[in-house]
This record gives sequence, C-alpha cells and structure tokens, in this order.
Amino acid sequence: LRYPVICIDGPSGAGKGTVTWRLAQALDYQLLDSGALYRIVGLKAFEAGLVTADTSQVIDEMAVLKLTQSLEIAFVPNNASGRVDILVNDEAVGEQVRNETVGGYASQIAIFPKVREALLKLQQDMATRSGLVADGRDMGTIVFPNADVKVFLTASAEARAERRVAQLLNAGQTADFDAILTTIKARDDRDENRSTAPSKPAEDALLLDSSILDADTVYEQVKKHCQTKG
Ligand code: C5P
Repeated sequence: LRYPVICIDGPSGAGKGTVTWRLAQALDYQLLDSGALYRIVGLKAFEAGLVTADTSQVIDEMAVLKLTQSLEIAFVPNNASGRVDILVNDEAVGEQVRNETVGGYASQIAIFPKVREALLKLQQDMATRSGLVADGRDMGTIVFPNADVKVFLTASAEARAERRVAQLLNAGQTADFDAILTTIKARDDRDENRSTAPSKPAEDALLLDSSILDADTVYEQVKKHCQTKG
C-alpha cells in the first residue's frame, strides 16, 4: 500500500508553510516540515560550536553528521499555532528554531551530503503511515521523486522580504528591509547553488509565483492542481 504524497518546494517566505498546513488539514494528511529538520541540526550545531554566523568558516561535516545521528526528532501538529511542534530527544524545541539566524545555520549544514542522507529515512518514513504533505527544497526531486503532486512555489526576493518585514512589524519588532533582503538572497544563493539536492523545481512540478498572489489564491490554485492529479 502506498499513501499519496504532495510536495511543496520553494524558497523561504514564498508561502509554502501556509499552503502545506491548509492542505494537510483539509485532506487529513500528515505534514512534513523538512526545513525544521535542517533548522534543528543547524541550531544544535551552533550550540556545539560547529557553526557560526561567519559563512566563510570551514565546518566539520563529520562532526555535524555525528550530532545529527544523535538526535531523535518527532513532529506533533499544533492546531492552536497552525504549525508543527518539534520534539528533539523528547524535549520541545521552542520558536527560536524559526528565526532567520537559525535559518542561516540550517542552510550552512544543509550543503553536506552525509547530513542530508542521515535525515532522508526519517522523511521518507513519514509517507508510510498516511497521506503526506511535504514542505521543503528537495521534496519533489530527491526525497519523494514518485510523489503524486509536486508544486514549486516561489516569489521574488523583494516580495518575500516585504512579507517578512510585515510579519516582524506585526509582532511588534523592528525590521530593516535592506538587511532582510540581503539575508534572503544569501540563503537562496546557498540553497540553489549547492551541489547536493539544490533547491530547484522537479521536472513535473507545477510552478507557481506567489509574488502578487494572496495566500487564499495560492491555496486555491494548489488545491485545483491536486484535483487534476486525481
Ligand atoms: O524552509 P526553511 O526556511 O525552514 O528551511 C531552512 C533551511 O534548511 C533552508 O534554507 C535550506 O538550506 C534547508 N533545507 C534544505 N532542504 C529542505 C528543507 C530545508 O536544504 N528540504
């Protein structure tokens, strides 16, 4: 028996998280937030002194691999927040994992083939229990190449930076558009140009640009695409 898999890939801030959550709720599927896996490893690697904000620093791939292998990671949907709570070695990981600094650490350790390999089975196993909506960079290309539906959701770096600014202001924080745009572009560059599992659309993915679309329209278009795929 094979359960249906829907892949939503694309850069950060394009709206993948929202579509993934809504689809998973509507279809009663599990949700895989693969970015969270890389974020956890990035955060733990930072705490262990293996990664810093200095992206020119050489990182010890084998040390990051060992650390990755020592982590027991589980996902628990949280209806109140509309996201998935993450447990690492039975301990809840706070919202700190979601900030842009940790996103930067994640993209630094995500270049390592052995680290990606170590996270592969956990991701693929999630499709053996029920239908799955998977959010990431390489869901449709590497992790679930035979997925039933593949979407690559993108948006201009400027549109994504504007959304991030609005989010921060909404949360009562300060936000510097230029600094955010620079960080977004640097992370895109690392994710798109790494040699292992670069962020790119699968050949059979629907390409969707959310730069000028609101979240409801994106969701409706993805839902329609899922329906045409049966
Ligand atoms: O999607 P999110 O912003 O949470 O991902 C954080 C980082 O983790 C990405 O910038 C990318 O470097 C890495 N990632 C990845 N493959 C995935 C998901 C995330 O390399 N499937």
